[in-house]
Amino acid sequence: MTFVSKCKLLVLVVLLLITIRLSLQTRLRNENKVRTATFLSPKFVLEPGLVANKFYNNIDFPNGHIAIKSFDAEVVDESRNPVPLYETYLHHWLVVRYYQQKGMEVSKYHDNLGFEQSDYILVRNSGICDRDLFQYFGLGSETRKTVQYVPDPYGIEVGNPLEVPPGYEERWLLNVHAIETRGSEDRMGCTECRCDLYNVTKDEYDRDIEPNYIGGLRCCHDETRCRTREGFQGAKRSLYLKYTIKYVDWHAFIKPVKIYILDVTDTWKRRKSTGLMPSRHHCQIEYEVESCSAAVANNGCIHTKKISVTLPNGGNVIYGVAHQHAGGVGSTLLGEDGRVICSSLPIYGEGKEAGNEAGYIVGMSSCYPRPGSVKISKGETLTLLSNYSCDQRHTGVMGLFYLLVAEMSRQSSSILHSKDNIGDIVILHNAVWALAGFGIAALVAATVTYQHQSEREEGCESILM
Ligand SMILES: *[C@@H]1O[C@H](CO)[C@@H](O)[C@H](O)[C@H]1NC(C)=O
Ligand SMILES: *[C@@H]1O[C@H](CO)[C@@H](O)[C@H](O)[C@H]1NC(C)=O
Repeated sequence: MTFVSKCKLLVLVVLLLITIRLSLQTRLRNENKVRTATFLSPKFVLEPGLVANKFYNNIDFPNGHIAIKSFDAEVVDESRNPVPLYETYLHHWLVVRYYQQKGMEVSKYHDNLGFEQSDYILVRNSGICDRDLFQYFGLGSETRKTVQYVPDPYGIEVGNPLEVPPGYEERWLLNVHAIETRGSEDRMGCTECRCDLYNVTKDEYDRDIEPNYIGGLRCCHDETRCRTREGFQGAKRSLYLKYTIKYVDWHAFIKPVKIYILDVTDTWKRRKSTGLMPSRHHCQIEYEVESCSAAVANNGCIHTKKISVTLPNGGNVIYGVAHQHAGGVGSTLLGEDGRVICSSLPIYGEGKEAGNEAGYIVGMSSCYPRPGSVKISKGETLTLLSNYSCDQRHTGVMGLFYLLVAEMSRQSSSILHSKDNIGDIVILHNAVWALAGFGIAALVAATVTYQHQSEREEGCESILM
């Protein structure tokens, strides 16, 4: 073969390979396009002052083996219009995964222990609290402006039939906690569940509430009432949690992420001893921020709560976001060497419309480190900081940190190492297709070259451009 025909052959092979690669990627992307499913929770009815803390078993959820890309939610009224937080404060919603024994009556889930019944198997996230915070998804007032999309090629794997024990089915439970504050005497006090405003002496398990417990979830359980202005009249209204799930069908090239929820009130202590007792993570979930003296407050007073924890496994941080209540001014997760793993700041509303309510946290900024750029090592001591303004006292505040971590792939040989966003499997496919493609291309090119042997010289560079 002459130089020219070799050159043409090379061009053709390259073009063919590019075409094959592009079409394969497009095919994979199309087959695996993101689907969107929107559902409404069962209806809950509120009137001024009233609290709803509802648990709904077996909610609508996409079927099959899928990777969840995002889970968004908000409160809407009967005509599906968004309801602003100063009318219905969304304290939290959370979604719990479990396996339900087939053919069993759906039993009411009332507390964390409800899942110890034999017909239920709770499927916890990857940690790290012992009892609580086992949900897969969940947010509070910040739900409308918090970006929660799991970037490609990652996803939260659910619905894998191989993981479900025989005789069971995978199900999802929704907990919605909403407080109606139309006509409230003290809106912020109601949303912070201040016990004096609720006139309760017992919690939802009928245990006495100690006088030094000033506010928090024990005082605003289901069907309790927060004090309203005298004579205020407001109609009952039917509400729903509208939730939207984005997902893709499961594919081998999706990289699963683990969900961790860290809590700044975790009383965990590293056990230095022989490890006969496993380390315990007692997460209190809520805490209190005392107001600082006026003199200090003038200089801007910040309450910082801080803990150290370790994750059971390391990996690449794919996503991070904090959860704080009104008064929060930001939260940071630091590595053992002091590097910032993720810093998440509240977005306060400035207007009246739903999603921008003045004085409320309507969003939290989230972290999307370039995959591979922020790693947590196994056993690394992390520090979680949660900052609140203490210009005034706050009760029932929270400092959670939600993390998505991709464990380092075990098959990370250099051949399979991929820099594009599709992942290892495509590289593997491409290698196979490239070999096949090379054969075809060589044949085609040889034919073409033979047919045009008499053609004049052309430069390679101009074609390859
Ligand atoms: C507070 O609760 C007590 C007993 O539960 C009741 O007698 C009283 O009327 C309530 N006060 C208000 C203001 O609702
Ligand atoms: C929280 O406060 C500490 C000081 O106590 C400060 O170093 C840190 O940067 C603050 N972080 C955020 C996110 O506000």
